[in-house]
Amino acid sequence: MPRILSSFILLGSLAYACQRDWDALHRRMHQHKNHNAHAKRAAAEYPPRLTEVESILINSFDNKSLSDWSYYYTHGNHLGSYNKTMAEWTAAKWRDAGFDVHLAEYPIWVTYPEQSSLRLIRPDGTTHDANLTEDVLTEDDTSSYPNRIPAFHAMSGSGNVTAEYVYVGRGTQADFKVLKDAGIDLKGKIALANYGAIYRGTKVKNAQDNGMAGCIIYTDPLDDGEVTEENGYAAYPHGPARNPSSIQRGSVRFSSLYSGDPTTVGWASAPDSTRGNVSQYNPSIPSIPISMKDGWQLLKALESNGVTAKEANRSGWEGAFGNITYDSGPTAGAVVNMNHFMKGWIAPVWDVIGIINGTSPDEVVIVGNHRDAWVIGGAADPNSGSAVLIELAYAFGKLLEKGWKPRRTIVLGSWDAEEFGLQGSTEWVESHLPWLTSSAVAYLNIDVAVSGPRTAFSGSGEIQTFVVEQMKKILFPEGWGDLPTLYDMWYNTTEGEISPLGSGSDYASFYQNGIGCIDIGSDGGKTDPVYHYHGNYDSYAWMSKFGDPGFRIHTAMGQWLSLILYHIADDPLIPWDLPNAAMVLDSYLSELNETISESDFPELDISPLASAIEEFTKQAENIAKVAEQARSFNDTMLLSVVNTRYRDFSRGYASAGGLPGRETFKNVISAPGIDNGYGADVFPAVTDSINKGDGEGAKAWVEKTSKAVLKAAEILEV
Ligand SMILES: *[C@@H]1O[C@H](CO)[C@@H](O)[C@H](O)[C@H]1NC(C)=O
Ligand SMILES: *[C@@H]1O[C@H](CO)[C@@H](O)[C@H](O)[C@H]1NC(C)=O
Ligand SMILES: *[C@@H]1O[C@H](CO)[C@@H](O)[C@H](O)[C@H]1NC(C)=O
Ligand SMILES: *[C@@H]1O[C@H](CO)[C@@H](O)[C@H](O)[C@H]1NC(C)=O
Ligand SMILES: *[C@@H]1O[C@H](CO)[C@@H](O)[C@H](O)[C@H]1NC(C)=O
Ligand SMILES: *[C@@H]1O[C@H](CO)[C@@H](O)[C@H](O)[C@H]1NC(C)=O
Ligand SMILES: *[C@@H]1O[C@H](CO)[C@@H](O)[C@H](O)[C@H]1NC(C)=O
Ligand SMILES: *[C@@H]1O[C@H](CO)[C@@H](O)[C@H](O)[C@H]1NC(C)=O
Ligand SMILES: *[C@@H]1O[C@H](CO)[C@@H](O)[C@H](O)[C@H]1NC(C)=O
Ligand SMILES: *[C@@H]1O[C@H](CO)[C@@H](O)[C@H](O)[C@H]1NC(C)=O
Ligand SMILES: *[C@@H]1O[C@H](CO)[C@@H](O)[C@H](O)[C@H]1NC(C)=O
Ligand SMILES: [Zn+2]
Repeated sequence: MPRILSSFILLGSLAYACQRDWDALHRRMHQHKNHNAHAKRAAAEYPPRLTEVESILINSFDNKSLSDWSYYYTHGNHLGSYNKTMAEWTAAKWRDAGFDVHLAEYPIWVTYPEQSSLRLIRPDGTTHDANLTEDVLTEDDTSSYPNRIPAFHAMSGSGNVTAEYVYVGRGTQADFKVLKDAGIDLKGKIALANYGAIYRGTKVKNAQDNGMAGCIIYTDPLDDGEVTEENGYAAYPHGPARNPSSIQRGSVRFSSLYSGDPTTVGWASAPDSTRGNVSQYNPSIPSIPISMKDGWQLLKALESNGVTAKEANRSGWEGAFGNITYDSGPTAGAVVNMNHFMKGWIAPVWDVIGIINGTSPDEVVIVGNHRDAWVIGGAADPNSGSAVLIELAYAFGKLLEKGWKPRRTIVLGSWDAEEFGLQGSTEWVESHLPWLTSSAVAYLNIDVAVSGPRTAFSGSGEIQTFVVEQMKKILFPEGWGDLPTLYDMWYNTTEGEISPLGSGSDYASFYQNGIGCIDIGSDGGKTDPVYHYHGNYDSYAWMSKFGDPGFRIHTAMGQWLSLILYHIADDPLIPWDLPNAAMVLDSYLSELNETISESDFPELDISPLASAIEEFTKQAENIAKVAEQARSFNDTMLLSVVNTRYRDFSRGYASAGGLPGRETFKNVISAPGIDNGYGADVFPAVTDSINKGDGEGAKAWVEKTSKAVLKAAEILEV
């Protein structure tokens, strides 16, 4: 077993929306070893050699400024639609740096709890009230803000439900099956699920689909790796372990079915838009997130009843409380009262858009980060990325001052309302689709730039090689295992594994329309300080003491993103590696092949897809040769021919009618798994059909997917 698996594993990417998921990366690393992993190349040249422009960009990043921007973003309510001043402040900074900036306003569906309470009533009549806000800490200034945001699930249903409850493990379909197979009646009861492994809204959907009347999701120390109180670490603010009162907020919309405003799925939200009924996209049952200490009380009252953890035999079922058995219940007479009512209304949100026109305006590179946060802080999610974007704007401003003009147009996006369901970015994409489809070269996403030191990167096959190469030019701060460059940290973390894109951040709408994307950031591993994801202690106080003291990881992430942006925007040849894109498709084919061999349709013929990928590989190798020729002879005409193809080929992956049952997800190469919601399924329409037991559908989608790959190959043809 590779050492990395025993020392620390983190989730390979923000595809999981900033949430650690050891299980998923383990699985991928074991199953697909060497399929899609970059072999460690010759040690990076050290210290890295930089061009003059690269040095200007890199030296422009200042940790004191990053800390200042972070401080501003993390000291006011900026939940989606609540803070236009912050949008204007961001616009002013980018304008000061030299960008042409405007706000784009979209009226969207917003939800907030009107009232919310959760009471456990034990068989002996004693009660326990869950606290739906975190403890106030003197060491953390924003934990006491009077307008701090209560813990709730955006897009939750409403109701006043009093019922027995059942522990459902991670809340996957397979977990529910274990309970049904054991004869436990779920109808009308409340589900208690453990956060982690899959997207939270999918847990609620599974509870609802099983006839349950409500859903509670608690945080288990299982997802905190080694750093737990049980292992002797002090809890925040006195140490790196999780503060037991911390609660993970989040949206519970059905994220594998749509993105953006649920009243305008498939079109842009405008004041006079037709608006649909949200009920098909969001849960109808109430759901509430609770802390690990309150979760403990609920689990305790289920002991000795129902299915034991051992009988359940499901990954993630047994958590890390040493003093809890994790039996499912129900316990006769142990009930929960959830009294939870949501209100919803239409309110404006504000994207900030900053532009530098390029000399080839029909080639556009977009860089984005969301600005809205679940809590007053949001120091990691998302404002580590927001602070980085301001420094990045100033870094490019230094080039502009020298009279530089990029070859390709650069667009910066500061998206609002990502946390409700990628609203700001999705509505912007929907309102600029023809322009983006004809001119976008790539979308670069940075959400959580820093919640720990371990580099995370996922993205489209053609972009991977180049992005990895840029890591070798960035020095990594000392103090995290003395890995000299960002590349060393990344390789140490992932062994070169790069995940496909699922959902969970703002790249989704771009990617699903056939635009190549990357998602970068950094995260904590099993031995790093626990990050209070979507909790009130994702604060400036936590970041400056535990997450990134000195803001030097912020610096490294910003430097990396600047080099990526600079080269994509300005290199005469767009720096894509098409043969790598072909290899990635091949690795996804192997993954599909494994899915098929374990399914009810082991005889499903995927040879049409194999041939399509073969054709793609041929075109990829050919255009790579032409590109090299164009570059070495500085042949302007030929460069333009290649660049156009590099820009356009991935549009072939977008299926006009969308994936079955989810029309706005179009990319036939990868999409969030239906029963996962964050992590990606590859060749998702085929996989979905197999999982639904639809053999004919699977066959038809092998054909359609092959056609899409052939279309991409045809666009590449020179
Ligand atoms: C918006 O955010 C800023 C900066 O964090 C803060 O000073 C301001 O009070 C916030 N506005 C509102 C309406 O909460
Ligand atoms: C919940 O936490 C808040 C903030 O620390 C505290 O004021 C309140 O008393 C707590 N409520 C309960 C029911 O524990
Ligand atoms: C909620 O239900 C409980 C138990 O049935 C009941 O006592 C309480 O009055 C209800 N509250 C509301 C606001 O309807
Ligand atoms: C159970 O374990 C947790 C975590 O180790 C600890 O905080 C708690 O005090 C324990 N509870 C009891 C009743 O032993
Ligand atoms: C939306 O649809 C649900 C379920 O079909 C229905 O109960 C509800 O009344 C509808 N709401 C509106 C505003 O039409
Ligand atoms: C638990 O499940 C695994 C497969 O997921 C199986 O190999 C193992 O035998 C099961 N163990 C028990 C005790 O049922
Ligand atoms: C950038 O180009 C657009 C489209 O051609 C044009 O409308 C805009 O005025 C230009 N902006 C600047 C600052 O030159
Ligand atoms: C990662 O770094 C640790 C500590 O510096 C080292 O022990 C380990 O061998 C490295 N792993 C890899 C895969 O490079
Ligand atoms: C910036 O980094 C230096 C060390 O490189 C450190 O001394 C300083 O405290 C940092 N500044 C901030 C604001 O964190
Ligand atoms: C799929 O896997 C089977 C073995 O399970 C192998 O014989 C076959 O060649 C594979 N097909 C592809 C296209 O990888
Ligand atoms: C490549 O050709 C262009 C257009 O003729 C010219 O402006 C540029 O300086 C050349 N670049 C190099 C590296 O020769
Ligand atoms: Zn985020």
